Amino acid sequence: MRSANAEARVFVHTGNHEFHLTNGQVSYIVRINDQGKALQLYYGAAVEDRDDFGYLVEMQRRSTASCPIEGNLFYSLEHLRQEFPEYGTTDYRMPAISVLQANGSRITDFRFAGYHVDNGKPKLEGLPSAYVDEDREAVTLSIELADDLTGLTVNLMYTLFADTPVMTRSVAVRNNGNAAVDIERLMSLSLDLPDDDYVFTQLTGSWARERSVVRDHLHPGIQQIGSLRGSASSHIHNPAVALARPDATESCGEVIGAALVYSGNFEAHVEVDPFAVSRLQMGIADFGFTWHLEPGADFQSPEVAFAYSSQGYNGMSHAFHDLVHRHIVRKQWRDRESPVLINNWEATYFDFDEDKLVAIASKAQKMGVELFVLDDGWFGERSNDKAGLGDWSANLKRLPHGLKGLAQRVNDLGMMFGLWFEPEMVNKNSDLYRAHPDWMLSTPGRNASHGRNEYVLNFANSQVVDNIYEQMHAVLSSANIGYIKWDMNRYITEAFDITRGAEHQGEVFHRYILGVYALHERLLKAFPDLIIEGCASGGGRFDLGMLCYSPQIWASDDTDAVERMSIQYGTSMFYPLSSIGSHVSIVPNHQTGREVSLNTRTNVAMFGTFGYELDPAALSEQELAQVSKDIAFFKKHREMIHKGDFYRLVSPFNKNPRHNDSMAWMVVSSDRRSAIVGDYRMLEHPMSPFTRLYLQGLDPTTRYRVTVRGGASTIDGMVFSGEELMRIGMLSTDASASSSAEAGGVNNLGDPHDFDSRLFVLEAC
Ligand code: DGJ
Repeated sequence: MRSANAEARVFVHTGNHEFHLTNGQVSYIVRINDQGKALQLYYGAAVEDRDDFGYLVEMQRRSTASCPIEGNLFYSLEHLRQEFPEYGTTDYRMPAISVLQANGSRITDFRFAGYHVDNGKPKLEGLPSAYVDEDREAVTLSIELADDLTGLTVNLMYTLFADTPVMTRSVAVRNNGNAAVDIERLMSLSLDLPDDDYVFTQLTGSWARERSVVRDHLHPGIQQIGSLRGSASSHIHNPAVALARPDATESCGEVIGAALVYSGNFEAHVEVDPFAVSRLQMGIADFGFTWHLEPGADFQSPEVAFAYSSQGYNGMSHAFHDLVHRHIVRKQWRDRESPVLINNWEATYFDFDEDKLVAIASKAQKMGVELFVLDDGWFGERSNDKAGLGDWSANLKRLPHGLKGLAQRVNDLGMMFGLWFEPEMVNKNSDLYRAHPDWMLSTPGRNASHGRNEYVLNFANSQVVDNIYEQMHAVLSSANIGYIKWDMNRYITEAFDITRGAEHQGEVFHRYILGVYALHERLLKAFPDLIIEGCASGGGRFDLGMLCYSPQIWASDDTDAVERMSIQYGTSMFYPLSSIGSHVSIVPNHQTGREVSLNTRTNVAMFGTFGYELDPAALSEQELAQVSKDIAFFKKHREMIHKGDFYRLVSPFNKNPRHNDSMAWMVVSSDRRSAIVGDYRMLEHPMSPFTRLYLQGLDPTTRYRVTVRGGASTIDGMVFSGEELMRIGMLSTDASASSSAEAGGVNNLGDPHDFDSRLFVLEAC
């Protein structure tokens, strides 16, 4: 799917106003019809250009159709596939835009007004967006539409990358008229596909159970997901969806994926009309949203990144993983290795002092950990979750030498020092709240709800953002802090911006998230090498928007390895392993009470950023020795794990009896000389069938020696060609084998038990 020297280009046929974006992998074809309407002609695998794709405009006289042209019964917008549909001028499906005008009308009629093609990709003002280093890496087509009556113009901006089958689209509205208007709906992407034979695939869940893969066949009407939670894209629905052909699997078949580069309220839906046309739309959720646009003002929508794969869900994931690695994660962290970390949250919660922290760091350093992260509780009066948020200065009762002293002690061990913040929140028991009670988001005259005893700061107010910036800047300047964990633990209620008038209240959620982005921008400008790990009560804000600032995001507060199999499997659909925050924690697990071997906890956490969230003092000498070996193993393979090609092999969501309630995935190095396969048992069933794993992404002609780590297998030490491993499959049932991964334990799949796992390491020989 990838090609380093590929070129992205736009064929422009001025005679018939056709635009064909292609990079040899995908084609996207738009045509402007003689009414000036932008029509969608094709999106899918690359096709050769031709002078005229007009035959793809399908029209038929259909009874009951409303028709905008007098005397013409064929032309109805209801029956055309469009790029920027509107309501009220014969199309009855969901529109891409709705604008309330001074006279109360919402009718608009945008028609073609011009276009331009540029190499490269412009940055979106105030919003996170994918980028290119050099202009040759992408091409951008801008189509301008105008509504003469209101004087509004719209810029549909399409970028196609050269090196990956990914496009982005965003929409900018400008008011060139004389009267203010209110934008009530503006979809970043509106894509009409010619049929409805697709499975709508979404990542859904809850706190501690994020991103389960759920699939439903499209049906007439609307299938929709979204979030109205304001401050985060949410634990409930991730702002990324896929449309897959029913026969598509992880490794083959057509899949279209789309992900918003945005973290606020969103909607993503597919509407299937009576003629089986499927309209996929994504953008800011329209419920509660309005944007007041004065004459001369602009509004920029977030962008959607979308990818086409003919190689199943894994092919779609590769496209998104490449996008994140090359065009989303900031340059400073794009080419660096993320450090193995230890975080004190589950080790101490709020019960710590400087010596206790240094003891954890010191033991961790001996195991090979590179970064110590001090979590919640280091600041203000924070000794529980009822106080302190908003007061970002060290609590000297706990840390008598301040952050500088603690950071120094950690640095002296040879480790980086990292720190937790929850910048957007405030406790009523804080100096910040006492000084500025009006900085809290709340509606005048109404009760203000809390979540976890905390309240949301009005990040739509730049004064608030300035204050938090100054406080964080002072902390980050006061000590050698190389990493921050940016947490956000509650959603917004009673949203109201007291600094703005009634006509702007529909803007508060969007302005809030713009404030969050602005704070990230400012901090990263001041501290360009800082690693930010995103977090929102675990994985409540895992989206491409946040990945523009944080190369990694804490995937879930659930650190149980068995739960994590599903969470990380689902997350990998759109987001690469280098972004998936994953730690080994203690047993019994704090979220589920489950006892899972250290071997399996490690084998799951290694398919992510990798770190620890426990007190090493709770580990036996034997376990500590094992952890040292595990970390050394991870470091040896870190580049492959984070930057190689990841393939999902067996889904934890697909209970196929042939797979024995198991899960499997693998990574392959970019040169295809090495690979690691993770093979995991969930619940063991007696008399299970034999299984084999059909590996992917290997070089068929290369011979690989297989070594088993953390378990036993009859194929340990054997050599196979890539072709055998992919076609015949790798045997993964070993009834005859039985050896112990951990002394006294039986944690291997030779003598299988619940929650066993092992890694197969493949090296070219
Ligand atoms: C929620 C996060 O997800 C946890 O990892 C931890 O940082 C707590 N907040 C601290 O309050």
